Amino acid sequence: MELIKRPRRLRGGANLRKMVRETRMDKSSLIYPLFVMEGNGIQEEIPSMEGQYRYSLDRLPYKLEQLEKAGVNSIMLFGIPDHKDEVGSGAYAQDGIVQKALREAKSRFPEMYYVTDVCMCEYTSHGHCGVLCGHDVDNDKTLELLAKTALSHAQAGSDMIAPSDMMDGRVAAIRKELDLGGYTNIPIMSYAVKYASAFYGPFRDAAGSAPAFGDRKSYQMDFHNRREGMKEALMDIEEGADIIMVKPAMSYLDMVSEISKAVNVPVAAYSVSGEYAMVKAAAKMGWIDEERIIGEMAVGAYRAGAQIYITYFAEEIAKMMEEGRIG
Ligand code: PBG
Repeated sequence: MELIKRPRRLRGGANLRKMVRETRMDKSSLIYPLFVMEGNGIQEEIPSMEGQYRYSLDRLPYKLEQLEKAGVNSIMLFGIPDHKDEVGSGAYAQDGIVQKALREAKSRFPEMYYVTDVCMCEYTSHGHCGVLCGHDVDNDKTLELLAKTALSHAQAGSDMIAPSDMMDGRVAAIRKELDLGGYTNIPIMSYAVKYASAFYGPFRDAAGSAPAFGDRKSYQMDFHNRREGMKEALMDIEEGADIIMVKPAMSYLDMVSEISKAVNVPVAAYSVSGEYAMVKAAAKMGWIDEERIIGEMAVGAYRAGAQIYITYFAEEIAKMMEEGRIG
């Protein structure tokens, strides 16, 4: 055979393969989602997310120490309040669970970077991501509460605000409130391209945030849509979003790819609870090689164009990077 091009030439040995790798990753681009709850001495495993826990404030330092050791220096905080009401007042309370966690964690681990999820669903008695008007979420009334929540996070020490509610105009509303409060330098990472997805199932178990009736389809996106994702991303950038997130990750890498080519802000991919649960369950059955699957999922997100990867596997991935097995 007279073959001029032989792609296999560049695959002949580990050194060479690594030299020509196209995707390089770094631990600093990982964000680990963390659930904090009221109470004392609690470290509760989430049944549908083996290996992931809800922590009470006093247990938080153990986890943060572990993360720092692994080289994971960014977390995203989710709060589990012990009181829910119609308007989700726990979300913006000065002594709300996330606000308390921020104060506590920041004083002990000032080197960590704290992103906070801004949404109402963990705090409303009906489990929807905003205040209701009849059976639907009232967009504009919800904006006021989201802005208030974001400001209270910033006041408690949040380094970055990540709104996940999917209300129209929330980035603008939050930006305005943060600026008025003097927090012009706190970035917003918008869950801009967030689909109504069954992949969030285990998270809703973890946070007790499943909607009491109906679903989230009147605010989260229909997963059949691609151009609408671009519309959401561009709108959020116009409103002042500093980083655009695509969520979930694995079944939505087309969106990561397309958006990362079209915009000039960093793009984040969130590998959500259902992705984590599937890997854990199949690995437990002995049907897949957990570590290699985790690596492929992570590299896939970066290869698609993500610069930031939010994942419950952050510690495992950091270890794989450290040992040179991926990236
Ligand atoms: C809050 C929120 C959700 C997730 C992140 N922020 C749940 C939802 O929209 O129902 C899901 C994260 C995951 O599944 O890991 N709205």
